Amino acid sequence: MQIAKSLQQIQSSYIREILEAASNPNVISLAGGLPNDATFPMDIIKPAMAKLGEELAIFQYGDTAGYGPLLDHLYTRYQLPANQKAMITTGSQQGLDLIARAYIDPQDCVVMEAPSYLGAMQVFGLCQANIVTVEQNKQGPDIEALEQCFISNAPKLFYSVPDFHNPTGVCWSLATRKAVAALCEKYSVTLVEDAPYRELRFSGETLPMASSFCPDHSIVLRSFSKIAAPGLRIGMVSGKESLIQPLIKVKQGADLHSSVPMQALLLELLNNDSFAQCLENNTALYRDRYNKMAEELEKHLPNGCELTQVEGGMFVWVKVPQCDTFALAKSLLAEGVAVVPSDVFYPPSAAKSSALRLNFTNCSPFDLDIAIQKIGQVLRTQC
Ligand SMILES: Cc1ncc(COP(=O)(O)O)c(C=O)c1O
Repeated sequence: MQIAKSLQQIQSSYIREILEAASNPNVISLAGGLPNDATFPMDIIKPAMAKLGEELAIFQYGDTAGYGPLLDHLYTRYQLPANQKAMITTGSQQGLDLIARAYIDPQDCVVMEAPSYLGAMQVFGLCQANIVTVEQNKQGPDIEALEQCFISNAPKLFYSVPDFHNPTGVCWSLATRKAVAALCEKYSVTLVEDAPYRELRFSGETLPMASSFCPDHSIVLRSFSKIAAPGLRIGMVSGKESLIQPLIKVKQGADLHSSVPMQALLLELLNNDSFAQCLENNTALYRDRYNKMAEELEKHLPNGCELTQVEGGMFVWVKVPQCDTFALAKSLLAEGVAVVPSDVFYPPSAAKSSALRLNFTNCSPFDLDIAIQKIGQVLRTQC
């Protein structure tokens, strides 16, 4: 049977290919986006799972919008205004998919920063959106270019990751957050604020969400993959009720609801007094790993390469002289180091700059040392 035309144009997910190469025990992987499993709050999870085993009701079918007690908790935790609605999703990735299916017809314009999150490009590509990109600078998207883009393309959505962007690690400045929100209001574009890394800040000041400056023109995606555990597959989508209702309809057709036992488990976690400490330990570990990586990169990166400093999240973006980044990543893999070449983070038509995305959360300091030395050596010979 022939696969659908919409799928024919999608290349096999590079994420899967990277994770496959990275699972080779002889390869040091800076490629995946895996949280460090030492941060999973197993001391809370183990007894909570045993307790939940006694609760028959959570093993029955549940509500599409989510497990009521968890939703109540999240409305308070994130101080959602009274006119906002939240729905639990199977990871924030499902939230993205539901938004695409509920709102995007083929050729509808969706704007993103370039480079952008691979999973978002895949979702919007599958629904045959016309993906248009705007260059990202150190403060976030180029505001003048964004306004021109809104004027020329009349997009439905602007997809963004303002806190510790994947792949660049960039955190939008306050001025950029306000300016983007103002443009979304002015041109009636819905801002999709994807915030899986927001709570992984290890230095600097937390900034208000961009969506808080345009609450009626935004949808927020949150994830518990990076602050609890990705295997739970729990995320949340929230926004003005009229924006969320269509997503509930699509989710009914997609999976009826997300796993209720996993939602109940997440609630146990969030309600546990030691969860805040777990989160602090998590960010402290990532701060140490980032500092180690940044220190090694300073030592080993040849001239012409540049590391963008980050204040949180899981990735750094190392700019390299213009080159074939796929070939560079291949050479590194031959030396036993997996990285992600920048090209995969751009749609085919976008202007690309050469860089490597490096993950700093999931590799020991010892392996980081070896990997960065090898990156330095390969860059010196190839760039
Ligand atoms: C920017 C971004 N959005 C969404 C996701 C998906 O996360 P989840 O595990 O919540 O589905 C990821 C995963 O790495 C991501 O980087």
